[in-house]
Formats: sequence, C-alpha cells, structure tokens
Amino acid sequence: MIYLDYNATTPTDPAVTNAMLPFLRGQYGNPNSSHAMGRPVREAIESARTSVARLINAKPDEISFTSGGTEASNWAIKGAAFADRRRGDHMITISVEHPATLGPMQWLEKFGISHTIVGVDQHGRVDPAQIETAVQDNTILISLMHAQNEVGTLEPVAEVGAIARSRGILFHVDAAQSLGKVPVDVEAMNADLLSIAGHKLYAPKGIGALYIRSGVEIDKFIHGAGQEHGRRGGTENAAMSVGLGKAAELAIEYLSKGSHSELRDYFWQQMQATLGNRVVLNGHPTERLPSTLNVSFPGHVGGNLLAKLDGVCASTGAACHSGDAKPSRVLTAMGIDRERAIGAIRFSVGRPTTREEIDAVVKMLTQAVIAT
Ligand SMILES: Cc1ncc(COP(=O)(O)O)c(C=O)c1O
Repeated sequence: MIYLDYNATTPTDPAVTNAMLPFLRGQYGNPNSSHAMGRPVREAIESARTSVARLINAKPDEISFTSGGTEASNWAIKGAAFADRRRGDHMITISVEHPATLGPMQWLEKFGISHTIVGVDQHGRVDPAQIETAVQDNTILISLMHAQNEVGTLEPVAEVGAIARSRGILFHVDAAQSLGKVPVDVEAMNADLLSIAGHKLYAPKGIGALYIRSGVEIDKFIHGAGQEHGRRGGTENAAMSVGLGKAAELAIEYLSKGSHSELRDYFWQQMQATLGNRVVLNGHPTERLPSTLNVSFPGHVGGNLLAKLDGVCASTGAACHSGDAKPSRVLTAMGIDRERAIGAIRFSVGRPTTREEIDAVVKMLTQAVIAT
C-alpha cells in the first residue's frame, strides 16, 4: 500500500502514542482532583497546553483543547456570534472554506446572523481588497482558512488579519491543514481565534484545540463544569491532550529543519516529465502547502484513474460513480471547468513518504493515463 492522503489524515506518530499510553493505563486520575492521582495528570495536560501554545506563538492559557478542528471552528464562529449580540450580526468568509466554517455560518442564519462569501481567483486565493469591500458596520467576524485542504493554496491571512484588526473585527483562522506543515504564528497573522486539528498533525483523531487571544470574549460552546479555564465543560481527555502536546513538539522540531517541499516538487517534476501536457496543476503554483499536489488529467475521471492505481491511497475532490462524476465544489469555485475538475486527484505527501513510493505511483499513473 502507498499512502498519499496525508491531508485527509496522518498516522499517529509512535512517539505520540508512547506519550499517551501512561494516561490510558495507570495514570487514570481526574486532573481536577488535588490528590496524588490527579496532580500528575493535571501537570501533563498543562505541559501539553504549553507545547501547543509554543507551536503557534501563543500563551498556554490561550489554548483550549477540543474534540478536533470542527469543534474548534464551530466554537469560534458560534461563540463570536453569541458573545454580545449588540456588537453586530454579520460575518465574512470565502467560497473554498471547509464545511466546518461554512456549516456554522449557515446555521447562524436561523438567528438572523448573516454572512458574505467572498470568491477566490483561479488558484483558490482570496484578494484581501475584496474582503475589505465586504466589511459592513455590523461585521463581527472574518473567518479565513490558512491553507485550503483540497488544493493546498495558502490564503493571505496576515493581510486579512491586518484589515480585521484595523476595523475592530474578530479574526478567526482555520489552521487545520497548515499546522505542522508551514509556520503558524498567531501574532504575525493578527489572529484572535485559531482552529487546530490533531489528526492532521500526527496526533490521533478526536483531539484539537482552539486558540482564543487573551482579552477576546466568545461564548461557551460546551456548557458544564469549569474545565479548560472555565471555557469548555467536561472532564479533560488527558491522553489525547498529551498526544496533541507531543505532536506539537514533534512539529516544532520538524519545521526547524526547513520547508519540506522537495518530495512534492519531485513528484510534480516526474509527472510532467512522463505526462507533459496531459497533466495540469490545480492550486497556487508557489503559495501552496509543501504536502499538496492536486492535479487534473483532462479527459479522464479522477476517481476512475485512481481505481487503476493498485494499492495507492489518494483522494478525489469529486464524488464520482461511473458515468456520474460531480466536479469538486472547491475547484468549481476556483473557476476550473467541469472537464478539468472531474479529472482531478489530490495527492498529499507526509513525513514517512519516500521517493521510491513516488516513483512507483508515477509509473502506475503514466500507464493508466496513456492506456485510456
Ligand atoms: C481545512 C480544514 N478545516 C477543518 C477540518 C476539520 O477538522 P476535524 O477533522 O479535526 O474535525 C479539516 C479536516 O478535514 C480541514 O481540512
């Protein structure tokens, strides 16, 4: 099997599993108990919080653990909407956002909170000037993904953050895809809220975090006892939080060693060398995640091609059943025509990916494209 779907999810790093194991075995104390069983668990959770904060240049008490990226974004968006209804009732986001952002905004319409969806260019990137044009007197939140999950395009978060800051509007960044792949710095981005998803970062599924800048007030999302600095009720998931902390430490080390785009670039060069103009790149040519290679094979159905790559795990943005291929919503929003969109496959490389795996996939792909 060759796994090239690291944007969908990553394996849990063995060092992360090892860090978690004591909290699934003997260390079962409640972190809120002040006795000898509780205290070490509390210390481990707080140490994990510090590691997550370091990864994004935040302070530990600005980090709240969540069940994942989706919960983090739901909390940021709904929490901002309900924090103070007098502040306003309008939000802004972009057309290629993840459902974790678009879903809560659509739901908020039931409460009279509207949103503007700003379009993107052919690379999937928003023009900050268009966000500025969409700002109204009643705008309370701008939500922008750092990296687009299907095509990997990096959005101009720092520029949009500066606009939000100058207008006194809260700025939420969805960093689910970018964290651990490119530097993420809440100060450089002017982010007030930032979503983290553990399973894209070599931690397990079911853990994430929300960064909430000191002084920023958003409503609670999960009501209960006073856990997570009184912000999120429910006894803490110690093992998972410790896992995310370890994953953050590994990410800091990994990022200190460079940008890691060599394999993605090698993959693209090899594809071009064998397929020439039978393959086209989707997403921004340079402002793109070092993991992501979304390519189209015009005249082909991406899902059908993928089915011919024996043992290869990648993904198609298109939901396709033979004869009924639907183009990806994201590629369509980028203005990519139907034929090219239907022919798209997203390959995403990860830390364990090797050149040998890429060579094998390019060989299979070339045969599949040329034979059909
Ligand atoms: C950009 C983006 N935001 C949010 C999410 C949701 O994260 P989670 O799966 O942790 O809920 C994902 C996961 O696919 C994503 O790619």
